[in-house]
Amino acid sequence: MNRDSVLAELAEHQDGYISGQELALRLNISRVAVWKHIEALKAQGYDIRAISGRGYQLAAQGGLIRPTEIQAALDGGLIGRQIIFAPRVDSTNEGLKRLRLEQDLAEGTVLVAGNQEKGKGRRGRRWESPPGGLWFSFYLRPHIPLEEIALLSLVFAAAAAGALEQYLPQPALIKWPNDIYTAGRKLTGILLETGGELDASEYLIVGIGINTNIDSDDFPLEMRPFCTSLLEQGQRQVPHNELLARVLAQFNQYYNRFMQEGFPAILPEFKAKCLHLGQQVELMQGSRKISGINIDINQRGHLLVQNAQEIVEITTGDVNLVG
Ligand code: BTN
Repeated sequence: MNRDSVLAELAEHQDGYISGQELALRLNISRVAVWKHIEALKAQGYDIRAISGRGYQLAAQGGLIRPTEIQAALDGGLIGRQIIFAPRVDSTNEGLKRLRLEQDLAEGTVLVAGNQEKGKGRRGRRWESPPGGLWFSFYLRPHIPLEEIALLSLVFAAAAAGALEQYLPQPALIKWPNDIYTAGRKLTGILLETGGELDASEYLIVGIGINTNIDSDDFPLEMRPFCTSLLEQGQRQVPHNELLARVLAQFNQYYNRFMQEGFPAILPEFKAKCLHLGQQVELMQGSRKISGINIDINQRGHLLVQNAQEIVEITTGDVNLVG
């Protein structure tokens, strides 16, 4: 289709500009047709800039997502067997939920966004999604009780940390249950949403936000001291197709291991990457403030925090490192 060809040409010339005249020549269509396709692509959500005298440029740091290339690298794994790219979406988690209701969605489907306008974070918070990040979600149907689904939070965090490490000068560490930090600042967040009965979930949507090619100035001012990006840490742009293929390959590997061998197979790795194990921590449990040493993470994925009186088992919450 001509519109896809216009998009492909724009993606190929992403480092500079391509004029309407050259697009028309290359695709053997009129300049008016080029203009109409560009307008239609913009309406779909593609960020295309036009500079008079130079032409058009597609803004997509990290490159345009190419599902077939990623699928070829995954070699038949469940997660990523279908990859959908949406140039603009409210939230990839919400988008996948809608797709699941509208159609017989294949398990393992991944939805990747070019721009995410209403990213969701854990505990009802908002997830800032400035341009240049990698925002995606996938759909699973694990037939396991809810308590075990919660463990997947830790499993996918361990998997993602492993994949991200290759792009970082310093280790990628996990803040329980599933935030990924490097150099003391947050790089990646994971949001699991599930529905169904207590003993059998009907669906699981796993959403991952990776701060990839984001300039530190593009984070909201108040967040800058607390978050970072691969670009800021590694001082180079990270190709999204390559990174997504690596992360999805890790997810497949860890998910299979978890389903076959259970959480104990992953726990040692999680502990090795945990940011606060053995450290003084603070967190709220309901209205009660717990402070103590995080002495262990048990086989149920819970934190064990030792204070002067007792060992407290923490099932949920936001951990803060003290000192
Ligand atoms: C958190 O740390 O609070 C979790 C953040 C999860 C953000 C990702 S971005 C892709 C997916 N879509 C969303 O709306 N949220 C998740």
